[in-house]
Amino acid sequence: DVYRIKQLGPDTRVYGLIGKPVSHSKSPILHNAVFKSLGLDAVYVPFLVDDLANFLNTYSSPDFAGFSITMPHKETAITCCHDVDPIAKSIGAVNTITKRQTDGKLVGYNTDYTGAISAIEDGIRGLEGNGETVNPLGGRVFVVIGAGGAGKALAVGAKHKGAKVVVANRTYDRAREVAELVGGQALTLADLENYQAAEGAVLANTTSVGMYPNIHDTPLSSKKALSSYSVVFDAIYNPKVTRLMREAAECGATLVSGSEMFVRQAMGQFELFTGSPAPADLMRDIAMKTTR
Ligand code: ATR
Repeated sequence: DVYRIKQLGPDTRVYGLIGKPVSHSKSPILHNAVFKSLGLDAVYVPFLVDDLANFLNTYSSPDFAGFSITMPHKETAITCCHDVDPIAKSIGAVNTITKRQTDGKLVGYNTDYTGAISAIEDGIRGLEGNGETVNPLGGRVFVVIGAGGAGKALAVGAKHKGAKVVVANRTYDRAREVAELVGGQALTLADLENYQAAEGAVLANTTSVGMYPNIHDTPLSSKKALSSYSVVFDAIYNPKVTRLMREAAECGATLVSGSEMFVRQAMGQFELFTGSPAPADLMRDIAMKTTR
């Protein structure tokens, strides 16, 4: 039921998801359902790929209209594009490639960080008195847990919005590397436990702690430490409500879920692929039905 197009024709726009593995991804279900609902002559197909550069050289033109890039190719993807969005370049990862209409060249973007950051910004706007704020992250303390690809993306994204970034990680040296990149502070997880966050601070978990099947993992921030944050984001979307989110809610924080980041990164891709605004409610609805 994933490929709900009537038929493929010479004008059908073909989009690919490139990764290894790819079979677990919900993105084909989501993108194809949206194409179908909007009546677009387009299809989105997963490709299990070992060598990204070789694949793109062989197939990029004129067969494909754009690509989603997933693990383990997000870093290599940068070197395969002719142009890369400057923030994606400083993050060091591309998750979306489009083909420029004028010359057919490949252009790379990162909608993972835009999806997460915009979801968090809307979370802050939901706090009392912030409804109309143009730049809700400006001057705000933003604590990222984790210093892998996702941690770096959020740290760079938040810094770009003018936040004061703090990076906490199990391995301190990795925290320091990301903190240095964004002119922020590095913490160990023990430091995080005693860290007194300023009023209105955001906490963002980018580690896999609490992800299915380890849903009972103890969060890396205790309830006592959680109580100093106004907004708590968890990049995990399986389960939809993690133990961190449950405990943050008990502490009175505003929650931003990994599902919302998932929907928004896909909305960002749809907009780059089609040049049209993404149907937010429709995509949220489909994503809710397709993710566990
Ligand atoms: P991603 O690209 O998804 O961010 P990654 O590069 O593997 O994935 O990074 C995983 C992050 O989760 C790291 O910050 C890792 O901490 P280390 O740098 O110390 O390895 C963190 N992480 C994973 N499992 C963890 C655990 N059980 N406790 C604490 N941190 C953990």
